[in-house]
Amino acid sequence: MSEARKILVTSALPYANGSIHLGHMLEYIQTDIWVRFQKMRGNQAVYVCADDAHGSAIMLRAEREGITSEQLIDGVRAEHMADFADFMVDFDNYHSTHSDENRELSSAIYLKLREAGHIATRPVTQYFDPEKQMFLADRFIKGTCPKCGTADQYGDNCEACGATYSPTELKDPKSAISGATPVLKESLHYFFKLPDFQEMLQQWTRSGTLQDSVANKLAEWLDAGLQEWDISRDAPYFGFEIPDAPGKYFYVWLDAPIGYMASFKNLCARRPELDFDAYWQQGSDAELYHFIGKDIVNFHALFWPAMLEGAGYRKPTALNVHGYLTVNGQKMSKSRGTFVKARTYLDHLDPEYLRYYYAAKLGRGVDDLDLNLEDFVQKVNSDLVGKVVNIASRCAGFIHKGNNGLLVDANPAPELVEAFRSAAPSIAAAYEARDFGRAMREIMALADQANAWIADKAPWSLNKQEGKQDEVQAICALGVNLFRQLVIFLKPVLPKLAQAAEAFLNVAPLKWADHEQLLANHQLNPFNPLMTRIEPAKIEAMIEASKEDLAAANQPKGNGELTKDPLAAEINFDAFAAVDLRIALIEKCEFVEGADKLLRLSLDIGDEKRNVFSGIKSAYPDPSKLEGRLTLYVANLAPRKMKFGVSEGMVLAAGPGGEEIYLLSPDSGAKPGQRVK
Ligand code: 2FM
Ligand code: ZN
Repeated sequence: MSEARKILVTSALPYANGSIHLGHMLEYIQTDIWVRFQKMRGNQAVYVCADDAHGSAIMLRAEREGITSEQLIDGVRAEHMADFADFMVDFDNYHSTHSDENRELSSAIYLKLREAGHIATRPVTQYFDPEKQMFLADRFIKGTCPKCGTADQYGDNCEACGATYSPTELKDPKSAISGATPVLKESLHYFFKLPDFQEMLQQWTRSGTLQDSVANKLAEWLDAGLQEWDISRDAPYFGFEIPDAPGKYFYVWLDAPIGYMASFKNLCARRPELDFDAYWQQGSDAELYHFIGKDIVNFHALFWPAMLEGAGYRKPTALNVHGYLTVNGQKMSKSRGTFVKARTYLDHLDPEYLRYYYAAKLGRGVDDLDLNLEDFVQKVNSDLVGKVVNIASRCAGFIHKGNNGLLVDANPAPELVEAFRSAAPSIAAAYEARDFGRAMREIMALADQANAWIADKAPWSLNKQEGKQDEVQAICALGVNLFRQLVIFLKPVLPKLAQAAEAFLNVAPLKWADHEQLLANHQLNPFNPLMTRIEPAKIEAMIEASKEDLAAANQPKGNGELTKDPLAAEINFDAFAAVDLRIALIEKCEFVEGADKLLRLSLDIGDEKRNVFSGIKSAYPDPSKLEGRLTLYVANLAPRKMKFGVSEGMVLAAGPGGEEIYLLSPDSGAKPGQRVK
């Protein structure tokens, strides 16, 4: 038997300021399947990840919520870990980039780069918010597009005409954080001299480390010539201070990939068989794979290998790059309810449905993957319930009733057994190559063969005939064995189903090599249903709940800003006047059946009646108390279709959320329909 491979695997570190959604899950599920496969094969595979906890966005969000950055990242990390655990993403370690290990490694790597002459410093002139006393990243500056004149555009590109520019070209620039007019200010910045690594990168990116299309994209960047990379940010910033540079912090993308090493180092402290240096030193025989999305290739294929090389570490064996997730053929959309958070999915559906669907559609390439919800229901129900689980449920009963659950020693279809056995190397090769779609197709083709054979033998008919009991037992014993083979092949994708099957089969956790033997003269445990069909109503409920998440997120938070667009950008008077803000009388207010967060409000707005769903239920447990009250209402917000009906506009409230939501009211004397001026 060949020596077990040492394999270290990572997924991209999610930012610690937002929830995990189904787009994220594509990558974690893809990686988890690959790692589970490696472990089943007997390799020493280790899967590490962490929250990406630094940066100004995290600092500003914590500030808005009135908590420290540490409190924010601790809370988000706990939420992320629960989501991953419930999707059965089995990290060996889930750490944080805001950790001692990462601080030490980041400083050490920086110092090695500096010693080797790969760090430069020079002054940079940038916009500075005089009120917040901080430098402004491009996305924190808004102004009028210098090309087409559209107002309210971000500092680096215009959403209206697509122009790209530098923030200093914006007309009438404003800080998106305080609204103040920014001033230009100079500050010393630290740069990583990426051009020092041009030759190495040219060679490394063409050495089989990247998918062809990714390597081609990189060749374009490399041909254009590499630029020095700005790795410093001025205080205030949530991150690690740069050694010997008070008030200067590492840019979040400097210490994020080092977070992979830090998470592994943290794990080594409790797993003595793992040796940090054996995995990370130059010339290491361990393999290192990063699973990432195509949007962050430059960080992983240019900066990261250059940093590793410059600091004397090994480089990744390969980057495994995937495309984006679309839902029903379109970008995930909050208003359509297709921007589904991991938790919202879990509230309605079994995680293994999604694991299987993603596996069935994942290939080696960087193409986008479409979660078509109709196809999702159809495929899961037909493949997993209709084909795989069906084999066990067809056969188990006869073995229990006819032979007290004892599976006999029989092989009434050697050619079928051989077909299963000989398919294993090809299925394994597909897993190894991350061509999970091909693996699933081959497995389902075997399931089809097994079902066709059982249907042909029809043990249910034989069972009614005299003297056919041995034949029935032989057929069903083989049926259960074929089911067991399929479970082995599917185990990386469906760990929970595999565990339930192992309980029924009364066997130790299945490994890949177990497919080589059949069970014989073996006692089974009682059979319980292993998986139920997806009910389409559950999908609808999930979509509606995602719309509800949006409605709840659109309620004011803390200082009155919306969570959706947390930066209180200044608007001009015309934009304000465009809002049809009116006094509304709440005539009726009631619970919405099946909605956790919403109340239905029937409003009198003077000349019309309106129906509004509002995510304020947590603060108004007795909705009838709101009846007869006046409030402020946005009348010209585009109507939104929800399962419960159409929501027409929005009522206004303040407060941090939960029980603390306060519906706004005018002074007495105001009348329904009056315009707010
Ligand atoms: O794009 C992102 O979501 C980043 N937080 C990924 C970081 S991956 C690694 F480099 F840390
Ligand atoms: Zn423009």
